Amino acid sequence: MGRKVTVKNNVELNKMRIAGRFAAEVMDYVTPFIKAGVSTLEIDKLCHDYIVKHGHIPAPLNYKGFPKSVCTSINEVVCHGIPDAKRLLKDGDIMNLDITVIVDGYHGDHSRMFLIGQVSDEARKLVDVTYEAMMAGIKTVKSGSYLSDIGKAIEAVARKHGYGIVEDFCGHGIGRIFHEDPQVLHYDAGDSRFDMRLKKGMTFTIEPMINIGSPGTEVLDDGWTAVTVDGKLSAQFEHTIAVTDNGYEILTKSPKGWHKPPYSGA
Ligand code: MF3
Ligand code: CO
Ligand code: CO
Repeated sequence: MGRKVTVKNNVELNKMRIAGRFAAEVMDYVTPFIKAGVSTLEIDKLCHDYIVKHGHIPAPLNYKGFPKSVCTSINEVVCHGIPDAKRLLKDGDIMNLDITVIVDGYHGDHSRMFLIGQVSDEARKLVDVTYEAMMAGIKTVKSGSYLSDIGKAIEAVARKHGYGIVEDFCGHGIGRIFHEDPQVLHYDAGDSRFDMRLKKGMTFTIEPMINIGSPGTEVLDDGWTAVTVDGKLSAQFEHTIAVTDNGYEILTKSPKGWHKPPYSGA
């Protein structure tokens, strides 16, 4: 794994805590607005304005040319959906909202799924299993554990249900830089070149994308929107994590305790 994995000291970890917490706060803030009839561009604007009003930066805006402040990925969209005034949420949709903020130079990266109105049992199960898979990956993390344990744990959960795990996008180290080493695979690559021992102070995301059907993805002509090759549903959750001596710390914990739908009070 050519490049170097940064280990954060306590001052840097504290900045990561503040950034992660703010990403989750933005998510909690926008949650009550996410319902049928609202456009994904309105969701983008609510997040953008809240972030900027607090003096912080929406990391995706102009990142490698991305045109908006958050990603909104609906149904067969796997990730990197672009907010759009013409795309109104409708009954039965499932949407991933991915929010990344820069606070005092450090990134917090977090995503959750939203169920719009009455969704199918199939969709709800996919969302539940994806959350369970992310948490199974997170729970393997501690100083001295293997990076590859994360993907193995996620794969074990997804496989039980016959789902496809996306391999084209992965989790990532994060800090002053949005995407840094290591690459966090969400499946068992069975290749020691992708592996390493985790150390206290490493910070990275775990963000599995899980498909009902094929794991394959393709990117639309807009250069960003990644969709499933078979048009079937995809779901994703994401937390930013720090490695501690005894385990892990979830830096993007919801201040309101809203980790997976239904978000009561929303
Ligand atoms: N937040 C995404 C991630 O989890 C990255 C979005 S990059 C963008 O890594 F340019 F599409 F915004
Ligand atoms: Co990420
Ligand atoms: Co993200």
